[in-house]
This record gives sequence, structure tokens and C-alpha cells, in this order.
Amino acid sequence: MAADILIAPSILSSDFSRLGEEIAAVDRAGADWIHLDVMDGHFVPNITFGPPVVAAVRGASEKFFDAHLMIEPADPYLEAFAKAGCDGITVHAEACTHLHRSLQAIRDLGCRSGVALNPATPEAVLVDILDRVDLVLVMTVNPGFGGQAFISSMLDKVARVRALIGTRPIRLQVDGGVTPETLPALVRAGADTFVAGSAIYKGGTEGAYRANIEALRASVR
Ligand code: DX5
Ligand code: ZN
Repeated sequence: MAADILIAPSILSSDFSRLGEEIAAVDRAGADWIHLDVMDGHFVPNITFGPPVVAAVRGASEKFFDAHLMIEPADPYLEAFAKAGCDGITVHAEACTHLHRSLQAIRDLGCRSGVALNPATPEAVLVDILDRVDLVLVMTVNPGFGGQAFISSMLDKVARVRALIGTRPIRLQVDGGVTPETLPALVRAGADTFVAGSAIYKGGTEGAYRANIEALRASVR
């Protein structure tokens, strides 16, 4: 299981004044994916960036650009994020009235489709869309900010989502409070793709990012 783990640094915790360099640094430091947290000040109580910024930093890394859209509505912006260079686009179930259509639209744009669930959202919402989703994101904090405490009751939810996914080729991602301390239990529960912001960007240098990513991987070796 550990060999299949993907680490996706969230640039939310990076130095935004040097965003391109910060993405290149985690790329060289061993990131598998680059996680892009898009917030609209409406679906979540914070605002970050949109497609022009994604396009501007696309050249900083060739790794998979994993966009996490915390925006409502999401549908009007899917094409712009795809054109900006996102490889995967994850929308929130709570923000999409026609979730089935939104996920198909993401695939039709040539991207991998993802669906995110807030901590309070039951996994039952997944049952009828599993055939058009490439990634399920179980939020392990309430979205909006980096550096929040991991909600440990989400471990049971991760296990229930893993059971729902079964043998389908769907990644099970977790986001929020992921550290070397919380990661092992998440792996045991069935998660395979790990977003981490503050745990990776702490230290502020490429050497620190390398050590931080290695500490996450080492926690399950
Ligand atoms: C929270 C974002 C996360 C956030 C995680 O709304 O979706 O990606 O950056 O930050 P940490 O790893 O610090 O909890
Ligand atoms: Zn995120």
C-alpha cells in the first residue's frame, strides 16, 4: 500500500509572492502532485486565486496539477481551469446541484474528475456517481484555511468510502491536518493520496520541503 501513496503539497501554505518558485521547489523536493486550493469567499470563508494564476504558474512544474475548487457555482469555471492547465479538477458535492453533470463535464474537458466531501457530508452522495469519478476527496478539516486540526472522526468515513470504491480505479484523497502523525491511520483506513500544506511548507526552504515530504513517506514505511 505505501508504495502507491501520492503526496500532493498544497500551495496554500507557500509564499504567494514567489508562487512559481515555491511550486518548482516542492517539485524538486519530491512532490507527486501539486494541489491548488481555489476559494471564492462564498462557498468557503476565504479567497485565493483563479485560472489566470494557475496558467501563470503552469510552467513551474510538469507534475499533475490537482485543482481543488472550493467555489459555488463551479460549472461556469471548469473550462477556464482546464485551459489554464489543470490535470485534475475536484468539485465539492455541496457546491454542485447537478454533480453528475459537473463530473462528466470535467472528463469531457480532458481532465480527471474529482468530488470532495465536507466533514458533515455523508458518503452516500457518492453512490450514484462512482462511474464518472476518478478521485474522491474526504475533507479532514472544514475547508477554507491551512493549518487546522485534523478531525479524527473522518477516519471512519475514509474507511466507509474505501469500501464503497471497492476495486474501481478511483483515488481516495484526504486534505486537512495531514502530518507524519495522522498519515499512518489514514493509510490504514484506505486513503492513498495525501494533501499537506503546513506540514510540507514549514521551514521555508527546498531542503526543509524535501525533509518534510520524506517524513510523510517515512511515517508509513
Ligand atoms: C483547506 C485546503 C487544504 C489546506 C490544507 O481548505 O483544502 O488543501 O491547504 O492545509 P493543511 O495541510 O495545513 O491542513
Ligand atoms: Zn485542498
